[in-house]
Formats: sequence, structure tokens, C-alpha cells
Amino acid sequence: MEIKNVCVIGAGVMGSGIAQLASIYGYQVNLVDINENILEKAKSSIEKNLNRFFVAKGKISDNEAEEILNRIRLVAEREDAITDVQIVIEAVFEDMDLKQQLFSELDEKCDEDIILASNTSSLSITDIGTKAKNQERIIGIHFFNPAPVMKLIELIKGKNTSNDVLETAMKFSESLNKTVVTVNDSPGFITTRLIYVLCNEAINMKKEGIASTEDIDTAVKLAFNFPMGPLELSDLVGNDIYLHIGEYLAKELGEHYQPSPLLTKMVKDNYFGRKTNKGFYNY
Ligand code: CAA
Repeated sequence: MEIKNVCVIGAGVMGSGIAQLASIYGYQVNLVDINENILEKAKSSIEKNLNRFFVAKGKISDNEAEEILNRIRLVAEREDAITDVQIVIEAVFEDMDLKQQLFSELDEKCDEDIILASNTSSLSITDIGTKAKNQERIIGIHFFNPAPVMKLIELIKGKNTSNDVLETAMKFSESLNKTVVTVNDSPGFITTRLIYVLCNEAINMKKEGIASTEDIDTAVKLAFNFPMGPLELSDLVGNDIYLHIGEYLAKELGEHYQPSPLLTKMVKDNYFGRKTNKGFYNY
């Protein structure tokens, strides 16, 4: 099956980044969110990103930026957004009940050859699909933030994902100019399990007063040639997201993954990172 039209559910940071990326590579995208404010914010952030990172740098023309923007249709109704697409990519909040409910509804409403993908960064793909009848078409397609820039896509094969679906998802991911790795379903997959441990340990160090925020980040950047330090990265991904990931990994894999008490406190105090303009740094 050839993918031409894509539906992205959830217009937050990841959803809008995935929509932008798919449109850059020529796909028609329906970007759907029940919250119209989030949809409007997504549109202006895509427009701003295209201008700042592509037009201003001479990578594309004004006209091309407009075409990319025009290929993204903002939709408030889910039923409308899933019409005439070949793949649905879910990028809603990291909550198992919410995702199970959503995939059961999508499975009921989408034609049987439509691929249903989740961009979850840690939750089991098999568990996300448990309420759906046809679990063969459910797969994890894990993008990284910022989605238009990062070179990797992690494909997660659930227990019931078919090889055909895996192959089509692989072709689709490669058509977005990404390198693909495949992982068997396991909490946190390869990337989140590793990066969460690094960030959480940095947050523990900050809590213990071992070094300042800036020095922890500088040390990691320069010692390991990382583009960002772990505290900066936690602000970029969202401290709320890392808290959810930590709680889930601790439940599934053991105490070792328990979130730092400082991370819990920051989220309670609304220090989510860039999205609330305050985290380990002010924005
Ligand atoms: N959209 C498009 N292009 C962008 C962009 C965006 N939002 N942000 C940066 N770029 C481009 C810039 O135009 C620039 O391109 P050129 O080299 O062609 O000029 C390039 O990316 C580098 O950008 P900058 O020079 O402005 O800044 P930088 O070198 O500091 O890079 C960064 C910014 C790409 C974000 C870099 O800091 C980085 O890679 N950070 C690490 C990000 C990371 O680890 N992400 C994964 C998080 S984990 C995750 O997302 C998984 C999960 O589910 C939890």
C-alpha cells in the first residue's frame, strides 16, 4: 500500500512537528486536535519554524513554504480527519487509558487497511492496542523532538504487529529522510529507556547540590560531545513527560527508574520546561 495522506492526532509539540515533517516530504496531512487553541498555536508555530529554519536560511522559497503549509489541513473533528488517509499517527498525551480508548475507536472507524501508529515514547504498543480487534495494523513510530531535524525514527513492533505493516511503516519513515531502527516492544524501547536514566540522574545531582544546572549541562555536552545537556533536554522534551515516563518505567522495570523527587516537585509547581516558559532554565 502506498501512503499519500497522513492523519496526525494531537497538535502539541510532537504532533505539529510530525505534521510539518510529513508535509515537507510531500504528504497531505490532516492535523486534528479537539482543542482549537492548540490547533491555531500549532499552525503559527509551523509557519514560524518554516520561516526561521528554512526560508531565512535560503533552503526553500516563500512559495515552497506556503505549499508546505497548505498541505496541512487543521481539523477539529476526528471522523473528518481519518477520511481518505492511509496512516494515522497518534501523538496525544502519554496516558495508557487514553491511548487504549483512542486505538479502539480508531480500529472501529478506520478502513481495515489503514495503519494505526502511536508516537508514544515509552508505553507498550501491545498494551495500547489491547482493546482493538485488529491489532496487526498497530505499530509504534517514535519521532524525536524537533521532528523535522532529528535523524532517527524508532519503529516498535508490538506482539501482534504484522510484517507487512512493519515494512510499510519502514518505507514511510525512510521517505521522510530518517534512519530507522526496529525494536521489539519493551518499556521505553531503546532511546527513552537510556535518555530518561541520564536526565533523571542529572536531576538527582542537581537536587543533591553536586553542581549548578549550567555546570551539569556543560559537563555532559563537552565530555560526551552531546548537543544539549540533560537538564536543557529535559526542559525541551518536557519535565511532565519525563515524570510520566519515569513512573511508567519504575512500574514496569523496577525501582531503579523511580523519578527524582525534584522532578516530581517541578512538575507539581508547573515547571514543565519550555512549554510553560520555566523549568531548569527560564524561557
Ligand atoms: N525545525 C527545523 N530545523 C531546525 C529546528 C526546528 N525546530 N531547530 C533547529 N533546526 C535546524 C537549524 O536550522 C540548523 O540547521 P543548519 O545546520 O542546516 O543550519 C540545525 O537544526 C541546528 O540548529 P541550530 O544551529 O539553530 O542550533 P543547535 O545546533 O543548537 O541545534 C538542536 C538545535 C537540533 C535542537 C540540537 O540542540 C539538538 O540536537 N539537541 C538535542 C535534541 C534531542 O536530543 N532530541 C531528542 C529528545 S528525546 C525525544 O524527543 C524522544 C521522546 O519522545 C521523549
